[in-house]
Amino acid sequence: MIRKAVIPAAGFGTRVLPMTKAVPKEMLPIVDKPSIQYIVEECVRSGITDILIITSRGKEAIENHFDKSPELETALNKPGKESLLEQVQGISRMANIYFLRQKEAKGLGHAILCAKEFTGDEPFVVLYPDDVIFGEKPVALQLIEAYNQYGKACVGIKQVAADAISKYSSLKVDNIDGNVYSVTDMIEKPKKGEEFSLYSILGRCLLTKDIYDILEQTKPGAGGEIQLTDAMAVMAREGKMNGVDFIGKRYDMGNKLGVLMANVEQGLRHEEIGADFARYLKDFVQKL
Ligand code: UTP
Repeated sequence: MIRKAVIPAAGFGTRVLPMTKAVPKEMLPIVDKPSIQYIVEECVRSGITDILIITSRGKEAIENHFDKSPELETALNKPGKESLLEQVQGISRMANIYFLRQKEAKGLGHAILCAKEFTGDEPFVVLYPDDVIFGEKPVALQLIEAYNQYGKACVGIKQVAADAISKYSSLKVDNIDGNVYSVTDMIEKPKKGEEFSLYSILGRCLLTKDIYDILEQTKPGAGGEIQLTDAMAVMAREGKMNGVDFIGKRYDMGNKLGVLMANVEQGLRHEEIGADFARYLKDFVQKL
């Protein structure tokens, strides 16, 4: 049974500056919820009970968001505010959430290495908080099911556009069955001609403790950072890695266009304001 997850949230978020100067990127909203709350909700819906969020200086807002807020709860404890009170209390009760600081942003691989004591010998899911994915079955659960069936570490994969692959990782894959693939090699941010395929890892990995020994030996790679992809590539070459072409709609909350797309599309689906927003948008689009 997989019950632990790690959410690396220690990066600078330079692509969404100046917003992220004082506000963590993970607190950027999709309508009325910070993106990291969707990520924690995905964990909970996937059966995860213990979550480690890797943070850094200036990310205190994330800790506050998942903490109890006694003053606010007292203020909401009155007739007519029951649903808000329930929502606010629910956030602090979702799971056991732990925080650890990555003291220097040495890369995603280094951030995951910080989780070694927390995960111990257990397999665990890594959820990149930039990638908020909506769908019936949470992607973390899709990976857990593949792990339960094949007994191997696995990554959430999707094909990306040919002109975008150089910003992502590129994977060498062979289909096993349906949407499950064997991943036999990978490269981070490939230069032209280096790509294996247009399949890339998007936002979710399920790793085993094997990753830690490899990460400890991994030298800084693309961008001078210790890359998780470089360590996972070793596991892939050893035949220890699968990929799941997941079902779900992904939004990249790490860049400005992605933030807007998430807000427009999910705004239209929002229970409270969806219908009004649709009316506004139809009218607005006609004037474009
Ligand atoms: P990114 O490179 O996409 O995030 O890392 P970033 O560095 O915050 O973004 P930009 O490029 O400056 O806009 C992927 C994930 O890994 C985390 C980030 O927080 C993000 O969730 N990360 C990255 C760490 O936790 N530590 C690091 O040292 C680097």
